[in-house]
Amino acid sequence: MKDLSNKKVLFIICGGISAYKSLETIRMFRKNNAEIKTILTKSAKEFVTPLSVASLSQGKVYDDLFSLENETEMDHISLSRWADVIIVAPATANTISKLSQGNSDDLASTVILASNKQVFLAPAMNVRMWEHQSTQNNLKTLKGFGYKIIGPEIGDMACGEYGEGKMSEPLVIYEEIQNFLFSKIKNNKLKALVTAGPTNEYIDPVRFITNKSSGKQGYEIAKSLYKRGFNTTLISGPTNLKIDENIKLIKVETAEEMFKATQKNLPTDIAVFAAAVADFKASSEHKEKIKKVDNFTLNLERNIDILNYVSNHNFMRPKMVIGFAAETTSLEKNAVQKLKDKNCDWIIANDVSKDKSGFDNENNEVTIFYKNEKMKKEKLSLKKKSEISEEIVDRIVAQIN
Ligand code: PMT
Repeated sequence: MKDLSNKKVLFIICGGISAYKSLETIRMFRKNNAEIKTILTKSAKEFVTPLSVASLSQGKVYDDLFSLENETEMDHISLSRWADVIIVAPATANTISKLSQGNSDDLASTVILASNKQVFLAPAMNVRMWEHQSTQNNLKTLKGFGYKIIGPEIGDMACGEYGEGKMSEPLVIYEEIQNFLFSKIKNNKLKALVTAGPTNEYIDPVRFITNKSSGKQGYEIAKSLYKRGFNTTLISGPTNLKIDENIKLIKVETAEEMFKATQKNLPTDIAVFAAAVADFKASSEHKEKIKKVDNFTLNLERNIDILNYVSNHNFMRPKMVIGFAAETTSLEKNAVQKLKDKNCDWIIANDVSKDKSGFDNENNEVTIFYKNEKMKKEKLSLKKKSEISEEIVDRIVAQIN
């Protein structure tokens, strides 16, 4: 077990028989010097007492959203910002359902909804409740939000039945959280730059050339980088997406603006180019709206390649330059070519001819092509873009550390 001094863990205990196991998990964190605060839901207090939790955690125990004493000392927003990680154990079927709906009718759910930190859930419930389609759908939604699920395990249950739904043992939960806490970058001064979304290239004041990029993949990568401790800047083409206020967001419209914003934000330690930058722009922009004519020829010229510029910069090239490749045919051949041509460390290729992944989709399936590693390529199977981002950033952090 590693020393967890300066690591802050927010425990949320819900009302289930396995709440007693959370006391043991808290004891392990305390023994290794983590700082702990705990929230007990109303029903958790039927299973464990605030006094026993406070004694074991040697930290404050909160239970009431509207407690004047607690709110003056640390309000629910500060509490969600205070933590390095949030663990809900046991996570009951009811809490899982509430979180998947974004409900915030008590302190626990409000803090989670307001949080920008990694949330872990350790579910515990009867096997039928666990297997119920509604619980499984809720979990799928929560995974899509980026929550991580620990367990449950198969075994004998307090209710006398046998099956899946038993909360993971304290040591299993402890080790998952410990691994996460150490999956953050060691040097918290590192900077990351991400480009995302499409660009609009104007033909006249009201018409432009663009593409189907929604920006989701790039936004999710920026979120994952921020969660791991990078000081993150996101340069985004036009999208409808929102991002955490701690990520520096620069909104641009054209490739030219994206290029200038990127230049301005160099140097950076790592750069991920997920934007679908238009390769071409109109050679001359018409100042007036183009009138209807029988034949109209539009002359295009190449836009500057932002990735190429950054990856070949003679003194500001980031330690890691990661490009994306959107392909409809010969994915591997084209991706490997781009890896070389654009002087990248990795190229992350997505097959955008499929309807279930790529542009403007909730999901993605990618293959990472590495320049320098023994493993030349690695496939990340179809899943939510948030999960793909987490897996990509796991690998970035491993390399940077
Ligand atoms: O935005 P979403 O809807 O979530 O979809 C995600 C995505 C499919 C857009 C994303 O995963 C993706 O593949 N982005 C790159 C799309 C693309 O334009 O690829 P490309 O093969 O044309 O470009 C290769 C690389 O060069 C990319 O990293 C691109 O950002 C970069 N580039 C390209 C042209 C240019 N002028 N400047 C660049 O920086």
